[in-house]
Amino acid sequence: MNRYIVKGLVWLLLAVPGMLMLWSFADGDTLAMDMLHPSGEMSIRLMILAMLPGPLGDFFGLNRFFRAWLAIRRNLGVAAFGYALLHLVFYVLDMSNVAAMLEEIGLPGIWTGWLALALMIPPAAISFNRAMRMLGQNWKNVQRLVYLALIIGLIHWILLNWTWQPALVHLAPLMIAWILRIIGRSRRNRRQRSMA
Ligand code: HEM
Repeated sequence: MNRYIVKGLVWLLLAVPGMLMLWSFADGDTLAMDMLHPSGEMSIRLMILAMLPGPLGDFFGLNRFFRAWLAIRRNLGVAAFGYALLHLVFYVLDMSNVAAMLEEIGLPGIWTGWLALALMIPPAAISFNRAMRMLGQNWKNVQRLVYLALIIGLIHWILLNWTWQPALVHLAPLMIAWILRIIGRSRRNRRQRSMA
C-alpha cells in the first residue's frame, strides 16, 4: 500500500479516541472533569508505545514488525503530545477560570502536569523531517526530553491518584523492554569478545 495512505490511516486511528472523547463531551454525556482521566492516560500510553520499539527491536532483531512500528514512532509521539493538549483543554474547561488555575499551580499534582507538558513541547516541535535533517545528533538529544516528560507525567499521575499502581503498570512494559535491551547487548558483547 502507498506509504501516504498508510500514514493517513495511522493518523486516523490515533485520532479516533480523541474524537470519541470530544463527541461524548459535546453531546453533554460527560463533564470536562471526567475527560481528564482518559486524555491523560492516552497521552502516557502513546508515549510508552513510541518508546517500546527501539529496545524491543534491539533485543528481538529488526524484523518487519519492529521496522513498521519504528516507522510510526514519531506519529505516536506527536499524538501523545496532542492528547496532552486535549487534556489541557479539558482542564481549562473544567476550571473555567484563570484565577482558579493560577491558584492551584503550586500544588505538586498540578505543576508536575505543567512541567510534563512543557517538556513535551521541544520534541514535538522538531518532530518533522526537515528539523531532523538540520539538527543531526542534537535532534536525538532533544527527543530524549520525552523520557523526562514520561517520568514527570507518571509522578503527576501518582500524586493526583494517591496510588502508584496504575502508573507502575504502565511503566512495567518499558522497564521489561529496557532490561531485555541490556541483556541483549551484554550477550552480544560477550559473543564478540569470545570471537576476538
Ligand atoms: C498542562 C498541564 C496539566 C494539568 C494542569 C493537569 C491536570 C490534571 C488534573 C486536574 C487531573 C485530574 C485529577 C483528578 O482525577 O482529580 C489530571 C489527571 C491526569 N493527568 Fe494531567 N495535567 C496536565 C498535564 C498532563 C500531562 C502532560 C500528562 C501526560 C503526560 C498528564 C497525565 C494525566 C493522567 C494520566 C491523569 C489521570 C489521573 C487519574 O487516574 O485520574 N497530565 N491532570
